[in-house]
Amino acid sequence: MKISYSKFDRSFSKLGQMPDERIPELAFIGRSNVGKSSLINFICNNKKLAQTSSKPGKTKLINRYLIENQFYLVDLPGYGYAKVSMRSRLKFDEMITEYLLDRKSLFLTFLLLDLSIDPQPIDFEFIRWCGENGIPFVIVFTKIDKVKSKDIEKKMADFELSLSQDNWDEIPEYLLSSSTSKEGKESFLAYLSEILSTYR
Ligand code: GTP
Ligand code: MG
Repeated sequence: MKISYSKFDRSFSKLGQMPDERIPELAFIGRSNVGKSSLINFICNNKKLAQTSSKPGKTKLINRYLIENQFYLVDLPGYGYAKVSMRSRLKFDEMITEYLLDRKSLFLTFLLLDLSIDPQPIDFEFIRWCGENGIPFVIVFTKIDKVKSKDIEKKMADFELSLSQDNWDEIPEYLLSSSTSKEGKESFLAYLSEILSTYR
C-alpha cells in the first residue's frame, strides 16, 4: 500500500459535530509532542497535511483527513499536557474520551509512545483506560531515531515488563517509527492495509 491521495477533511471540537458515516476512521492518540501529526504526514508523504510543532499542545481539535477516498485518519489533541490551563486540558480530555468511547465508525486507534523517553504514569493510565473500556489499539513507538539501535530491544522489554506488572497478559501489538529518519513507513502501511481489509 502507498498513500498518494490525502486531504484535510474537517475539524471538530466535539463528537456531537461528527456525522454518522460508514467510512472507517483510524485515530492517533498519545501525549502532546509524541509525534502524532508528524506520523500522519510521514505515512501520507504529505508534509503539509497536519500541522506539527516543537511546542506541545499544537493540535487542539479533532482533525480529520481523508485518505485515498477510502478511510479517514483522525489526529487528536494530546492527553496530559501540563502547560495548558486546567480548563483546556479538561476540554481536550473530554474531546478524546468521548470520541474514543462513542464514535461508531472508529475502527482502530494508534496509541503513540515516545521510545526516547520512558513511558509516563499518564501513558500507563491511558493504556489501562483503553483496556477497561474495550478500545482496540495498537502501540506505535515513535522517535526511534533518538535511540541507539542496540537499546531499542531493552526499552521494549522494560515496557513489556511494566505492562505485565499492570496485569496485561500479553503486550498489545506494536510498531516502530521515526518520521525524522523515515523509518517504519512500510510496516505501518502494511499493517494499515491488512487491518482495513477486515473492515466490514
Ligand atoms: P500535539 O499536537 O501537541 O499533541 O503533538 P503531536 O503529538 O502531534 O507532535 P508533533 O507531530 O507536532 O511533533 C512534536 C515534535 O516532535 C516536533 O518538533 C517534531 O518535529 C518532533 N518529532 C515528531 N516525530 C519525530 C521523530 O520521529 N523523531 C524526532 N527526532 N522528532 C520527531
Ligand atoms: Mg499534533
